[in-house]
Amino acid sequence: MSDNLELEARPGLPEHLRDLLKLFPRDSWETHPNFGALTRFWLDRHGMFRDLMTHLQTDARLMADGNMDQQTYAHRLSRLGGMFVGELHGHHNVEDHHYFPLLAAMETRLQPGFDLLDADHHALDEHLQAFTDEANALLTSATKMQQGEPADMSGGAARFSDLLNGFERFLDRHLVDEEEIIVPVLLKHGEGSFG
Ligand SMILES: [Fe+2]
Ligand SMILES: [Fe+2]
Repeated sequence: MSDNLELEARPGLPEHLRDLLKLFPRDSWETHPNFGALTRFWLDRHGMFRDLMTHLQTDARLMADGNMDQQTYAHRLSRLGGMFVGELHGHHNVEDHHYFPLLAAMETRLQPGFDLLDADHHALDEHLQAFTDEANALLTSATKMQQGEPADMSGGAARFSDLLNGFERFLDRHLVDEEEIIVPVLLKHGEGSFG
C-alpha cells in the first residue's frame, strides 16, 4: 500500500491502522452487542452527507445539460449546498473537540489514526472552500439572470459537477476510513464514556 497517507492519495487505511478493524470487521458491526444508539446516529450522519452529495451531483449534471430550470437549480443549490457546508463544518467540530480526544484516550495505539483524520478535516476544509466559491458564483449568475443580465449557468454547473466528482471521492475516502477507525474503538470499549 502507498506510503502517501494524504486524503487525495491514499487508497484506504494503511496496514498499521487496521489491527482493531481486523478484530471488528465492518460486516459484524451492527450485530455486535456494543453497537448502540450513538454509533447508529453517527453513521447516519455520514449517510446524510453521502446523500446530500448525490443530490448536489445530480442537480449539477441536470443544470449543466440544460435539463433543469435555472431558478429551481439556484433555489436547490442554496438550500442543499448551505446544509452540506454548515452540517459538515459542525460535524467536524464535534469530532475534533469531542469524539477524537475521548476515543484516542481509550485507544492510545490509534493516535496516528486520529492524527490522520484530523489532517483529513483540514484537507476537506480546502475542498469546502472551493465548493463554496463555485456555488456562490453559480448563485450570483442566477441572480443576474433573474435581473435580465446575461450569465452562463450551464458552464458554471459543468465546472461545479467536475469539482463535486473529486470532492465526492475524497469525502467518501474520509468517511469510510473514519468509520473503520472509530467504530471498532466504540465496539471494543462501549459507548458509556460518551454519556
Ligand atoms: Fe470526520
Ligand atoms: Fe465523521
